[in-house]
Amino acid sequence: MVRQEVDGGVAVLTLANPPVNALGAALRAALDGALEQAIADASVRAIVLAAEGRVFVGGADITEFGKPQQPPSLPDILDRLDASPKPVVAAIGGAALGGGLELAMACHGRVAAPAAKLGLPEIKLGIIPGAGGTQRLPRLIGPDAAFSMMLTGEPVSAEKAASLGIVDAVVLGDLVAAARTRALEIADSGTLPRVRDRSDKLTSETRAAFEALAAAATMRDPDATNVHALVRAVRAGLDPKSFDAAVAVERAEFRTLVEDPRSKALRYAFFAEREAARVPGLPKDTPRRPIHTAAVIGAGTMGGGIAMCFANAGIPVTVIETEEGALTRGLDRVRGLYAGSAKRGSITEAQRDERIGRISGAIGLEHAKDADIVIEAAFEDMGVKREIFSRLDAVAKPGAILATNTSYLDVNAIAAVTNRPQDVLGLHFFSPANVMRLVEVVRAEKTAPDVLATALDLAKRLNKLPVTVGVCFGFVGNRMLERRSRAGERLLLEGALPHEVDAAVTRFGFRMGPFAMGDLAGLDIGWRSRKDFGGRAPVADSLAEMGRYGQKTGRGFYLYPDGARAGTRDPEVEALIARVAAEHGIARRSFTPEEIVARLMYPMVNEGARILEEGIAARPSDIDTIWINGYNWPAWRGGPMHWADTVGLKTIAEALTRFAAETGDDSQEPAPLLKRLAAEGGRFADWKAA
Ligand code: 3HC
Repeated sequence: MVRQEVDGGVAVLTLANPPVNALGAALRAALDGALEQAIADASVRAIVLAAEGRVFVGGADITEFGKPQQPPSLPDILDRLDASPKPVVAAIGGAALGGGLELAMACHGRVAAPAAKLGLPEIKLGIIPGAGGTQRLPRLIGPDAAFSMMLTGEPVSAEKAASLGIVDAVVLGDLVAAARTRALEIADSGTLPRVRDRSDKLTSETRAAFEALAAAATMRDPDATNVHALVRAVRAGLDPKSFDAAVAVERAEFRTLVEDPRSKALRYAFFAEREAARVPGLPKDTPRRPIHTAAVIGAGTMGGGIAMCFANAGIPVTVIETEEGALTRGLDRVRGLYAGSAKRGSITEAQRDERIGRISGAIGLEHAKDADIVIEAAFEDMGVKREIFSRLDAVAKPGAILATNTSYLDVNAIAAVTNRPQDVLGLHFFSPANVMRLVEVVRAEKTAPDVLATALDLAKRLNKLPVTVGVCFGFVGNRMLERRSRAGERLLLEGALPHEVDAAVTRFGFRMGPFAMGDLAGLDIGWRSRKDFGGRAPVADSLAEMGRYGQKTGRGFYLYPDGARAGTRDPEVEALIARVAAEHGIARRSFTPEEIVARLMYPMVNEGARILEEGIAARPSDIDTIWINGYNWPAWRGGPMHWADTVGLKTIAEALTRFAAETGDDSQEPAPLLKRLAAEGGRFADWKAA
């Protein structure tokens, strides 16, 4: 796992633990042994720590968290580095994350390739750095800058790392050779620069700046246990003499956080996301079709956003409309979005021009004839979609992938109008498509394996997170959302007020409650789709009928005076709700936030169970990945199915039986799978498809 080569007085230790050189027990043991040997070897004056593969070190091995630790621990190895009489220089060729950067910071020098990325992403896993990161990074770049980096968890580029002082140099050519030279220089100098001994960045100014950042961060997210722990750990090390004591504080905080349900959920979500890439019945070596060009049908918000995804990934794309006006409006909107990004500095002006240059517009479906993939993002209407697909069948080149961006409709029925249903599938992007990572990849009955495999690869090229789902109304996400919407309406009629429901949901961890969300999206949208697809939401429909479409009309479930973004309560709406409830003969009472959450979320879990039974999702974790990435389900609660396991399936099944009785809605009865798991004391986590 660690290759050792000694040459010219330098021992080069190369870590080789694919895929990301995670610091699992075996690698730690090999590294510790190799270091010990190199330090003991009289012919060695200096040591270089390098790694094989695209990633330098992706951090501690997350799969080992919560299990008994096998020695040597990472802190043991860092102690060995600290005690080393010979300089060790890290040659960082790729990502150095978490424990990877901590390892590098315990070395006496660091050089990086231009493609390297350096960061401490532990916060995203609900923990904090646990191997000296909260101490060495502040000593290298100041506690304020270090805290900011650890708080976002976002890595910085090699160039930025050099300007901050995390690495000594960015090396264009042979990285290991440069590291050797640096290591020998340090050996010749006779003093070993140890980050733990630095104090020049711990000034009164940087400390004050850190305290200000810490106060803002804890106020923003008072429940984030790891943010509080991060503040405590960094604060413990502000006194230059406190290094060892502060490392002990950090370690204790780290250990506590590893057991925190929030961290368990975030780690679960990390692996769930990666598991989603494995599609049952789709072998890794399934052939792919080449994708060099794309066409998007429809220049609306969705079509424009999807076209931007292609342009961002370097794939030329033609946006097709039926008339000039719509095309011009759509392309103007796209240009405006790119101009905004360039103005904010998130892309350069050259990138803006390049990306805009990759998007062309055309009138008429015949312009899709050369595209390797065509994505239809037209009006959500089966007639319109079938018409488009039968014409596409006539013009698209043989082997082209034909995808629909429908959010609800039957992809089998769309495929059936073509003579090539094997080439058809759904690609359900989320709005705004250029921003949201999730894509539900809808595998229709006849979708060919190579079409599915190509679509999954393509989604990754577009920087998306694809999750494969089967055909049903609304697929996984919207089908479950519909359950929540229905339960929300019912809650209003039974006596909860919109702001009470929204407050309970934001308290649960969503950024927005369902009614504020409805007002933002536009109440006319749900109203129209209920008209088309059936279903009734008496309160939301009445509001839409009154022209109260939400924020855009200044009135919806809430009032938005003078274009305000946050709504205020409207007595008129509350009176309307009471009236509708009376018309339906529904008695009203008050609800606690816990009852509201149960009423809204348990039916979603129940629908998730049905989705599993029907094979629409391959596994509970796919459902969770969809909800975290497409619907803002709080990641620290791990998605609806993981959360359900933490609540207990028996509790949920019993509550659903009660809800069904209270509301007279039989569809609330627990699904057979939920009932069975509840009876067995089982969990979704242990469920496997038959
Ligand atoms: N531990 C265990 N497994 C890991 C891992 C880790 N730290 N990082 C990645 N993996 C696994 C993934 O699960 C995946 O496994 P699979 O192929 O079986 O699904 C495989 O490695 C490849 O990972 P990706 O698909 O994510 O590969 P990419 O090339 O897209 O990304 C990466 C590489 C940027 C390193 C990304 O994997 C990543 O962000 N990893 C996590 C980084 C992280 O959070 N590190 C901190 C860990 S906590 C820590 O270090 C504590 C310390 O302070 C004590």
